[in-house]
Amino acid sequence: MLLVVAAFIVAFVLLLYMISPLISPKPLKLNGAHVVVTGGSSGIGKCIAMECYKHGAFITLVARDEHKLVQAKKEVEKCAINDKQVVLCISVDVSKDYNQVESVIKQAQEKLGPVDMLVNCAGTSISGKFEEVEVDRFKKLMEVNYLGSVYPTRAVVTTMKERRMGRIMFVSSQAGQIGLFGYTAYSPSKFALRGLAEALQMEMKPYNIYVTVAYPPDTDTPGFAEESKTKPLETKLISETSGVCQPEQVAKIVVKDAVQGNFTSSFGPDGYMLSALTCGMSPVTSITEGLQQVRCNPSKSLHVQQLVLKADLESVIVGWFHVHNPRTL
Ligand SMILES: NC(=O)c1ccc[n+]([C@@H]2O[C@H](COP(=O)([O-])OP(=O)(O)OC[C@H]3O[C@@H](n4cnc5c(N)ncnc54)[C@H](OP(=O)(O)O)[C@@H]3O)[C@@H](O)[C@H]2O)c1
Repeated sequence: MLLVVAAFIVAFVLLLYMISPLISPKPLKLNGAHVVVTGGSSGIGKCIAMECYKHGAFITLVARDEHKLVQAKKEVEKCAINDKQVVLCISVDVSKDYNQVESVIKQAQEKLGPVDMLVNCAGTSISGKFEEVEVDRFKKLMEVNYLGSVYPTRAVVTTMKERRMGRIMFVSSQAGQIGLFGYTAYSPSKFALRGLAEALQMEMKPYNIYVTVAYPPDTDTPGFAEESKTKPLETKLISETSGVCQPEQVAKIVVKDAVQGNFTSSFGPDGYMLSALTCGMSPVTSITEGLQQVRCNPSKSLHVQQLVLKADLESVIVGWFHVHNPRTL
């Protein structure tokens, strides 16, 4: 009897996995797509740009330092798969003036067409004990890591909504899932991205726009090396409990998740477990994502109830949208 029940459960789970592509978003075709990568001149952002280029995308790299942008452009161009592909560079501070960000995104759209995927990767990290971090650093990190993602996103959503398609990625951090010693300034700026992404996903879903939040672990980049110079010993000890990833590995995973329209993008067994344990009421964009959350959650029945509640809230929005936009039915 027990065997029959077990076989039934396994068959049911397999069936759910098999039909999940039917209700998951249609994957974005990167070949010919216009991908804008903020923070694209270095580290994770540069590798994301290279990964997209390998799939035939047209790229706009956004960062401040023009020299670094030109160097990155050369590296990205080496990943071309056809001679039509273009890499555009834009030098702007994404955190300062919304009108300026909107204007450069407009220029990029005029040159390479509407943005199909926006990757918000520009960011910086400062670690230190709370009372030792200069007070204005708290403001700076919110400006760069949070507002520096809000502004480019605001600049692309109107066109994405008109076209009824798009992908928006926010690069958070594992320190945006769990508050850690030394990150009292950094963690809140990365937690904020998740709040933004959750609310935004609910607004964008009826327009076939999917949001991804990436939670990279420590990754070997120029930014990581710079931050490590001033890390408190306690923060270093915590870091040493897990390894350091390569930016190319991170890029491969986040790009795949964004293409598929997954809300959460995490790395390795630790990252996967951390995401499952901290998922709360975050959106689920496929049966597979929902099953992963339930599987790793200690209180399975409570989590199933959360999923039902989430689906209920979303159905209110989607239902309202279709009543007021009958043409899209
Ligand atoms: N490396 C890690 O361990 C790790 C782990 C988790 C999350 N992350 C996150 O991943 C993202 C990339 O980190 P990374 O380690 O690859 O950093 P990185 O090597 O320092 O690269 C940061 C990029 O952002 C750009 N940038 C910074 N401030 C900007 C601004 N105000 N306006 C426009 N561009 C700006 C930089 O270019 P310019 O300086 O020329 O502007 C550069 O292209 C960050 O959001 C970071 O918080 C990193």
